[in-house]
Amino acid sequence: MSEYIGAIDQGTTSTRFMVFDHDGNEVARHQLEHEQIMPRAGWVEHNPAEIWERTRTVIKTVLTSSKLSAADLAAVGITNQRETTIVWDRRTGRPYCNAIVWQDTRTDRIAADLERAGHADCIRHKTGLPPATYFSGGKLKWILDNIPGVRADAERGDALFGTPDTWLLWNLTGGINGGVHVTDPTNASRTMLMDLETLDWDDELLALFGVPRAMLPTIAPSSNPQAYGHTNPDGPFKGAVPLTGILGDQQAATVGQVCFRPGEAKNTYGTGNFLLLNTGSDIVRSQHGLLTTVAYQFGDDKPIYALEGSIAVTGSAVQWLRDQLGIIAGATQSEMLAGQVHDTGGVVFVPAFSGLFAPYWRSDARGIIIGLSRYSTNAHIARATLEAIGYQTRDVVQAMEADSGVKLDTLRVDGGITANELCMQLQSDILGVPVSRPVVRETTALGAAYAAGLAVGFWSDPDELATNWHEDKRWEPTWSEAQREKGYGRWKKAVARTLDWVELDD
Ligand SMILES: Nc1ncnc2c1ncn2[C@@H]1O[C@H](COP(=O)(O)OP(=O)(O)OP(=O)(O)O)[C@@H](O)[C@H]1O
Ligand SMILES: [Mg+2]
Repeated sequence: MSEYIGAIDQGTTSTRFMVFDHDGNEVARHQLEHEQIMPRAGWVEHNPAEIWERTRTVIKTVLTSSKLSAADLAAVGITNQRETTIVWDRRTGRPYCNAIVWQDTRTDRIAADLERAGHADCIRHKTGLPPATYFSGGKLKWILDNIPGVRADAERGDALFGTPDTWLLWNLTGGINGGVHVTDPTNASRTMLMDLETLDWDDELLALFGVPRAMLPTIAPSSNPQAYGHTNPDGPFKGAVPLTGILGDQQAATVGQVCFRPGEAKNTYGTGNFLLLNTGSDIVRSQHGLLTTVAYQFGDDKPIYALEGSIAVTGSAVQWLRDQLGIIAGATQSEMLAGQVHDTGGVVFVPAFSGLFAPYWRSDARGIIIGLSRYSTNAHIARATLEAIGYQTRDVVQAMEADSGVKLDTLRVDGGITANELCMQLQSDILGVPVSRPVVRETTALGAAYAAGLAVGFWSDPDELATNWHEDKRWEPTWSEAQREKGYGRWKKAVARTLDWVELDD
C-alpha cells in the first residue's frame, strides 16, 4: 500500500501542496502566493487560471523534490478558501471573470435587499447563515446579473459554478475532457443555497438568488470512499490518484485538530480567524451572531455540524501593516515591534476592513484606529493590531459560550499567526484561559489529508487520528481580572464607533 497522503490547500493568499505520513507528520511541502486583485475599494478578486497554475506548480515541485510519484500517494484531499466564487465555461475551461473572493463587499446591496424584503429568517433557518456579503449566493447572483452571456450559458449547463475545491477538482480530473463537477457539504453550506438538513440545493433559495440548478456541482461526502474521481495522468500528478477528500479550510482545520466530539473547538489564525465548535449531529441555531455550518460528513455517516465564529481580518491586518502602512518588513516583525512597548498607550485598532463579521454582521462598519495621542508610535499600532486579534476572538468566544452553554476551558489554536508568541500570550490574557498549540500547525492541510485517508482505509477511524495530536506549547493568562475587563470595555467602545459608517450608495 502507498505510504503517504497528499493534500492541496488552496488558501486566500497562497496555495500549498503537502504530503503526510501515517503518523500525521509532514513529509514535504511547497507553497506559492497568488495576486490579490483589488480593482476598487471593497472589491477583492483572484485569477482562477493563476490559482490552477500555482496548484500544478506546487504539486510538481513537491513530487520532484521529495522523489515521490503518484504511486506513493494512497489518496489526495483538497481544502480551500470557502465562499470564493468562480464561474467558468465547461466547453473551454475558461472563467468568465475573476473569482469574487469571500472578503469582497460589492454585494452589500444584494444582502440588504434580502433583509429588507423579509427573507432573512427563511435564509437563516435553512442555511444557518445571515444575509451578508460573505457568502457565495450573492456573489454568484452578481456574476449572473453583470457578466454578459453567463446567465444563458448557465441555463444550458455550460457555465459552471464552483468554489476553489470544485474548480481544482474539475481541472485535476481532466477539465474539458471529462472533469467532474462536485463539491462537499462543508463548502456547499457556505453558498447560502444549500439546506442544512437535506444537504441538497434548495429550490426556494435558488429562486431567491436567480441561480439555475444546472450550473451547480453535485454534493458528495467530505470523505468519499467512492472517490470523486482520479487525477488525470496528463496533469501534475502524472498518474491516477484517487481524490477522496474535500473540506472547506476551516472545517479541515477542525478535523486536523481532531475536534470529533461535541463540545470540542479550535481557533485558526490566518488571513482571518475562525472558531469552530463541534455540535455533533445537532443543528444548533445561534442566538448570538454565530453561523451554523456543516463540520464534515464522512462516508455514509450522518453529517456533523458546528457553530462558527468567523472574523474577517486578523492576519490580513498584519499584512496591511506591512503592505499599506509599511511599518514592518514582514509578518514576523510585528512581534518585535509590538514588543517594544508594554501596552498600546490607549490605542485601539478595529480592522473592520470588510465590515464586521461575527458576532456583529455589520457591513456598514469600517476600520478605525482610535485613542491616538502625540505619544502614539508605530509600536503602539502594531501592539493594538495583535490585541485586536485577541479581542475579536473574545467577542466570538463569548457568543459561543452563550449559544452552547459550554464554558471554554482551553483554546486550541493553529495557523500562521500562532507563531507569534506575544500574540498568543495576549490572547490568553484577553480571554483569561490557557491557549494550546499543537506540534503540527498546518492543521488545514492535515485535515484534508485525514478526510482523504479515512476514505481509502489509510486510517481506520477518527479515534486513530486523535493519537496523532500532540501539544507543542501552552500559554497561561497573566493579566488581572480588572485589567482584562478594562481592556475589553475599551474594545467594545471602539467597536461601537466603527458602525453605521458606510452608506449603501457610497
Ligand atoms: N509571526 C507572525 N505574526 C503575526 N502574523 C503572522 C505571523 N506569521 C504569519 N502571520 C500572518 O498569518 C497569515 C498567514 O497565516 P497562514 O499561513 O495560516 O494563513 P493562510 O492559511 O495562508 O491563509 P489563507 O489560507 O487565508 O491564505 C498572514 O496573514 C500573516 O500576516
Ligand atoms: Mg489557510
